Amino acid sequence: MRVPVMAGNWKMHMNSNETKSFIHDLRGRVEDTEVKVILCVPFTSISAAKDALAGTKIGLGAQNMSWEEKGAFTGEISPDMLLSEGVEYVIIGHSERRAIFKETDDMINKKVVKALEKGLIPILCVGETLEEREEHKAKEVTKHQLKEALKGVRVKEMEKIIVAYEPVWAIGTGKTASPEDANEMAVFIRETLKELYGEETSEEVIIQYGGSVKPGNVEEIMNQSDVDGALVGGASLKVEDFEKIVNF
Ligand code: PGA
Repeated sequence: MRVPVMAGNWKMHMNSNETKSFIHDLRGRVEDTEVKVILCVPFTSISAAKDALAGTKIGLGAQNMSWEEKGAFTGEISPDMLLSEGVEYVIIGHSERRAIFKETDDMINKKVVKALEKGLIPILCVGETLEEREEHKAKEVTKHQLKEALKGVRVKEMEKIIVAYEPVWAIGTGKTASPEDANEMAVFIRETLKELYGEETSEEVIIQYGGSVKPGNVEEIMNQSDVDGALVGGASLKVEDFEKIVNF
């Protein structure tokens, strides 16, 4: 049984004071849910989030990390730094990091491997651009991203990873993949994981959909057979909206 996982990706929003008040407001509203809730906050808000989340079951996540452990890497944050602040999850390979900050499949693979080695749970993002979809390459591209990101990852580790299917054209655009399209890709991702890791493992992996998830479309998306949760950007910044998504 896969427990649904709803993760907020705050991106570059919410300073530490805003983080505190958001979490204090959210806490009581999602207390009774069976859904696993995660907040992926900016680095500078991690400490505030950790304090505000104390005593809740909400998981704390970061949005990126270095694959290096320490050294002369100006501006980078190591996995140990995240761990020392109570971080459990880390988004890796988000399309904004791939497109704007030129992260390659190789860099993403190093981050996934390092996160697992350190005991952080990767939320690995994959998905095609609009151009790729129009050229009917969505599956090919997504499979390639998955295989490259997972090089060297063992079966036992794979069971822990959360995969987020995020078609780039649906992120922050208000355009959502149809629930059927989202599911078709989730099924395809699970098939790919089955090829790589066997059926038992592939059936355990949480596959989220991300891209303009909001209170009005979450239920339909979650009704699909292979979508186990959502990675939510914009709608995770409003307590009322995120609460509705969690309690879909
Ligand atoms: P969005 O972002 O919900 O604002 O489309 C999703 C994401 O980038 O993870």
